[in-house]
Amino acid sequence: MLLLALFAGCISSAWGCSSTSSVHNDDAGAAGVAGEASNAVSWCAAYEIINCSCQQCHQNPPLNGAPIPLLTYADTQAPFPMPTSEEKVWQTMQSVIRLRFMPYTADKTVMPPVKPLTDEQQNTLLTWLAQGAKDEGGLDCPQTCAWPNTSP
Ligand code: HEC
Repeated sequence: MLLLALFAGCISSAWGCSSTSSVHNDDAGAAGVAGEASNAVSWCAAYEIINCSCQQCHQNPPLNGAPIPLLTYADTQAPFPMPTSEEKVWQTMQSVIRLRFMPYTADKTVMPPVKPLTDEQQNTLLTWLAQGAKDEGGLDCPQTCAWPNTSP
């Protein structure tokens, strides 16, 4: 169901379609409230938010002062902050998303202006993270948003 909803959603190579892709987020949000294994949040549900929000800066190489790329599932599983750290990027994502430190809205020179996550988006990501940031549903996700200042 979720995958079908994702594919039926906004799939475009043009930047700026995130505001129209809200239908499936309701499903993911409901799954988040239940928080059971049977309602696991898929990587693709998490990825759409990472793609349309975080990747404005967390490109490879990163832009606007971001320290790390968040382009792939592997990027979320990398050690952080040091290559030798026990902690992983996804564990750090938990605190910065919970605190709404990310997406980083304080730098007003970033264009287009950075939008905070909706409560639903925040809930979906935090649920995916609380479930261990698994590659549930596979890694083959649609690219929903393309950022204009991305390096080729
Ligand atoms: C406007 C650009 C921008 C966006 C959008 C953005 N980030 Fe960041 N990110 C930054 C910057 C700049 C830093 C470094 C902040 C600092 O350490 O003061 C950072 C740091 C981080 C860190 C490391 C924090 C630490 O403790 O060192 C993580 C994890 C992170 N971002 C995740 C995310 C996630 C997840 C999203 C999307 C929900 C996101 N970011 C969206 C710019 C951005």
